[in-house]
Amino acid sequence: MAKINLKNLKVEAKKGIEKADNLKDLDEIFRKYLGKKGKITLIFNSLKKLPLNKRKKLGREANLVKIGLEKLIREKTQKFKEEIRAESLGKEKIDITRPGKKVKIGHLHPLTLVQREVEEIFQSMGFSVITGPEVETEWYNFDALNIPKDHPARDMWDTFWLKVEADQRARLPSPESKASGGQGYQRGLTQKFLLRTHTSPVQIRYMEKHQPPLRIIVPGRCFRHEATDASHEIQFYQLEGLVVDKNISAANFRAIIEEFLKRFLKTDIEIRLRPSFFPFTEPSFEIDVRRKKGKWVEMMGAGMVHPNVFKAAGLIPNAPAGGWQGFAFGAGLDRLAMLKYKINDIRLFYSGDLRFLKQF
Ligand code: FA5
Repeated sequence: MAKINLKNLKVEAKKGIEKADNLKDLDEIFRKYLGKKGKITLIFNSLKKLPLNKRKKLGREANLVKIGLEKLIREKTQKFKEEIRAESLGKEKIDITRPGKKVKIGHLHPLTLVQREVEEIFQSMGFSVITGPEVETEWYNFDALNIPKDHPARDMWDTFWLKVEADQRARLPSPESKASGGQGYQRGLTQKFLLRTHTSPVQIRYMEKHQPPLRIIVPGRCFRHEATDASHEIQFYQLEGLVVDKNISAANFRAIIEEFLKRFLKTDIEIRLRPSFFPFTEPSFEIDVRRKKGKWVEMMGAGMVHPNVFKAAGLIPNAPAGGWQGFAFGAGLDRLAMLKYKINDIRLFYSGDLRFLKQF
C-alpha cells in the first residue's frame, strides 16, 4: 500500500513540478509533498510502525523519491529565477543622459563676499591688498600711531590684553620697528601683546618696509572689549586705507570714497564728513553714510596722516618741505555689508544661523 502510494506520489509530484508556472507554484508543491506535513514526509513518519526489513526498504525508496523531487524543484526554481533576472535586465535601462542629482555645496559667508567685492573695487583704482597680524604689540597698535601710554585717547579702544608666556613670544610678531627701539622700547621682553583693536597698525608695518608713493587697503579682523548691540560686536572687520604721496589732499580722499561707495552700493547714497579726533590723523573726520532718506550710519574714521606716524615708520613728513603726506581711513566692513544688504543687526553675521546665511 505504502509502496503504491509512494509511486503514485512520485508521478503526481513530478507532474505538478512540470506544470508549475512560477516560483509560488513550486513552493506549494514543495510544501504539499516535502513540507512538515507533506505527503512524503508522512511516509517517513509512518516508517517506525513497520517491521525492520520493510522499514529499511521503504525508507530507502522514499529517500530516493525525496532526493529526486528536491533536485527537480531546485532546478526549476533556478530556471525561474534566471528568467526573472533576464526580464528585469531587459526592462531596466540606465539613461546616462539624465541630469545628475544636485549635490549640496557650501557657500561663502556674506562678509567674505563683501570683502572680496571691496578688494576688487579698490584694486581697480590702483590699491594693493595687504594683511597684518591679529595679535599685535602695544607699539604698533598704539604708540607708533601717536597714542602714548597713559594718554586718554587710548580709552577710545577697549583692549583685550594678552598674557604671553616667554616661549610663546618667539612665535608672535616681533616688535622689530626701528623706531620702537629709538623710542626707548626694549625689544621683545617688555612689550605687551594685545588683540588689535583696529587695522591701523598695518599702516606702520607697511611704511617701515615700503617707500611711498603707496596705495594700500588692509581688510582684517579687529577685537574690542565692549558691550555688543545692533551695530557693535566684540570682533568685527575693518578696512584700512592708506595713500601716501607728495601731493595728496582731503579732496582726493573724498573723491575716492565717493567713487568706492557708488560702485559698492550701486545706489544713490549720501555721505557726510564730520570733524573728529584721531591721534594718528590731523585733521580727522568721521564719515557717515545713508541711503536716500535712511538713517545715518557711522561708517568710517579718516584723516590726513599725522607727521608723528610718518616719523614712527621712519619716513620724513611734510610734503611742502620735500617729505610725504597722505590720507588714511578705517571703515567697518560689517557696517558696509549691513548697508548694502539692509541688515539691521551686526550680530547676525556671527550667529551661525543658516536661515540668515543661506540668503547670500
Ligand atoms: C578707528 O578704529 C580708526 N583706526 C579709524 C581710522 C583709520 C581713522 C585711519 C583715521 C585714519 P573707529 O574706532 O571709529 O576708528 O572705528 C572705525 C570704524 O570701525 C567705525 O566707523 C565702525 O564702522 C567700525 N567699528 C568700530 N567699532 C566697531 C564694533 N565694535 N563693531 C563693529 N564695527 C565697529
